[in-house]
Amino acid sequence: MPRLRKAVFPVAGFGSRFLPVTKASPKEMLPIVDKPLIQYAVEEAAAAGITDMIFVTGRNKRAIEDHFDKAYELETELERKGKDVLLEQVRSVLPEGVRCIYIRQAEPLGLGHAVLCAQSVVGADPFAVLLADDLMDAAPPAMARMAQVFEKEGSSLLGVEEVPRDQTQSYGIVTIDKMAGDLARIHSIVEKPRPAEAPSNLAVIGRYVLTPRIFELLAGISPGAGGEIQLTDAISQLLAHERVLALRLPGRRFDCGSKLGYLEAMVEYGLRHPETGEDFARYLKSR
Ligand code: G1P
Repeated sequence: MPRLRKAVFPVAGFGSRFLPVTKASPKEMLPIVDKPLIQYAVEEAAAAGITDMIFVTGRNKRAIEDHFDKAYELETELERKGKDVLLEQVRSVLPEGVRCIYIRQAEPLGLGHAVLCAQSVVGADPFAVLLADDLMDAAPPAMARMAQVFEKEGSSLLGVEEVPRDQTQSYGIVTIDKMAGDLARIHSIVEKPRPAEAPSNLAVIGRYVLTPRIFELLAGISPGAGGEIQLTDAISQLLAHERVLALRLPGRRFDCGSKLGYLEAMVEYGLRHPETGEDFARYLKSR
């Protein structure tokens, strides 16, 4: 199996759950303390040895490109003022040895369609998909674990987690063989079933490693749940051709696509941030 070198970041969504802040700014640029969500996802991919970061963007997403670009004026200014620490922070936004590629998804037709937009860049290689609003707090990072399992098993992999029954409608839900350690073969997958119809409460979270066959299948997918071209529906077809594995990911996930999950992440990361941690803990205790 070729090594995992490419990651796709679908970032064209409207972020409607965070309106009005997402009216003119991408939801992927929402900060957790001082770093935007998308940077955490890119750092996670880079820590897994991934070098090609492929962003599927849309209107109002220019801030993401600017964020990972060189900022000449800012760097010159910080250099002139001798602000070395800040300069280093700005320069290291893009991890070393990594390159960014941007593809435009003209219409937000769904996650499956966004992934299909990356086909010309991904080509015949396996690739990762990271949804930046699932913030994965784990050491070693979640994608590093996925890359390790992929190298050994050579099959498509989905990150999974048990969710409360009443939340199945927010996720792709899988049924599996018995777990062996943190790994199991997937039998079926369905997008956002109602709790009464959900075949289990094992949910797919925003981390995937996929073989390139998914593109052929995505090309033939009709709109599914929510009228969107769903990645889940193509994965369901992939099951007929290839083994697909579910991997229980290490660490904790923050659902930063929801306000509550986002606030929880902010508190946790704020408490461990070297600049704010102690004072923030004191503040939380005092109120
Ligand atoms: C997407 C996928 C869903 C998956 C979820 C993970 O849904 O369609 O299968 O469980 O991400 O976060 P979205 O959250 O974009 O509605």
